[in-house]
Formats: sequence, structure tokens, C-alpha cells
Amino acid sequence: MRVVRQSLPEVVVRPAREEDLDSLIDLVAAVAAEGRWIGTEAPVDRERRRRMLADALGRERTLLLLAEAGGRVVAELSMDLAGYGVADLGMLVADGWRGHGVGSELLRAGLDWAGQAGAHKVTLQVWPHNQAAVALYEKFGFQREGVLRRHYRRRNGELWDAVVMGLLLDTDRAG
Ligand SMILES: CC(C)(COP(=O)(O)OP(=O)(O)OC[C@H]1O[C@@H](n2cnc3c(N)ncnc32)[C@H](O)[C@@H]1OP(=O)(O)O)[C@@H](O)C(=O)NCCC(=O)NCCS
Repeated sequence: MRVVRQSLPEVVVRPAREEDLDSLIDLVAAVAAEGRWIGTEAPVDRERRRRMLADALGRERTLLLLAEAGGRVVAELSMDLAGYGVADLGMLVADGWRGHGVGSELLRAGLDWAGQAGAHKVTLQVWPHNQAAVALYEKFGFQREGVLRRHYRRRNGELWDAVVMGLLLDTDRAG
């Protein structure tokens, strides 16, 4: 558990638990409703999401971290470690809590977990217009590896590009 002190109230980063699931679903639903930042679109299927999160809590190769402030869940990060050693990252911070170091603190903790879990690489996808997210990932050493052109069909019918980014944790092993 780690305490972040910025200009906002105290923020605590900790693993998610069963009793956090509703708050985590509320958080993703709120960010999805913004319509610009994450792959999930509104309306969120809460039952399906609950099953996915509950499954994630029980998996050794999955990390589900949250940031809590004043008893409220204000951010979350997930990582799924594939059998071939690459951890897939997803994260979000609630509107109103962005730009105060919460995402950095979560990402630092997530990367610690990935290294300890034996990942040789962390990967993610991000919308090209999401400058805050790209800047956060670049700050931690992620590099752009390519673009998936017109890859994701949105509910309004638009086809969005996605940027693939990767962070190599093991640069020594033979490639
Ligand atoms: C992207 C996101 C996770 C960043 O989290 P955050 O808590 O706002 O980030 P931090 O305050 O820790 O900032 C970390 C770095 O990100 C960059 N950054 C943050 N906000 C930025 C902005 N509005 N514009 C440009 N760069 C920004 C900066 O490089 C910053 O480093 P610095 O403080 O040393 O300058 C957060 O904005 C968010 O959840 N957005 C909506 C959901 C989302 O986009 N999720 C990621 C999907 S791939």
C-alpha cells in the first residue's frame, strides 16, 4: 500500500477486493460515458463487467489495482500477464482527479508487479488523440510500436485507429 500526497486529499493505491466491484464498475461507466478515452463504450453492461472483474480477482496472473481517496475509488489499473510473458495494461483515472500524479503512482505500482510476476514486456493500446495517456506512458519509457489503422468500430459507426505501445522490461535476453 502506498500513499500519494499531492494538492488533492490523500490517495491510497491498493489491490482491489470483492467489495470494490460496484465502485470499479461505476468508475469505468463514468469514463466510458465521456466517449473519448477508453475502448469501453456506454452503456456499460454491468453484469458482464462484474463477472469479468470477479474472475480477474481470482487469477494469479492478473493484477487489479485501485486508487482510493476519502473512501472513494478514483482510479484503477489492470494487467493481464499472458503465458508468453507480455502483460497487457489498461488504466483510468476519474475526471476531476487527473493531472495530479494518481496515474503515475498506479502505473509505477503496476510495473513493479509486472516485473515481479516475470513479464519481459508490457503492452497497451491507446487512441491517437489521447495525448495525456501517451505522455504518461512515454514518461515511463513506453515506445510507439505501430498503429492499428481503422481498427475499432465504435457504436456510432466510426472506425478508430489505435496506437500500440510497449515497454521492454528485459532487454538482455537473446532476441
Ligand atoms: C491518461 C491518465 C491515466 C493519466 O493519469 P493522470 O493521473 O492524469 O496522470 P498524472 O497526473 O500522473 O500525469 C503523468 C504524466 O502524464 C502526462 N499528462 C497528464 N495529463 C496530461 C495532459 N492533460 N496533457 C498532456 N500530458 C499530460 C504528463 O507527462 C504527466 O507527467 P508530469 O506530471 O511529470 O508532467 C488519465 O488522464 C485518464 O485516466 N484519462 C482518461 C482515461 C484514459 O485515457 N485511460 C487510458 C486509456 S489508454
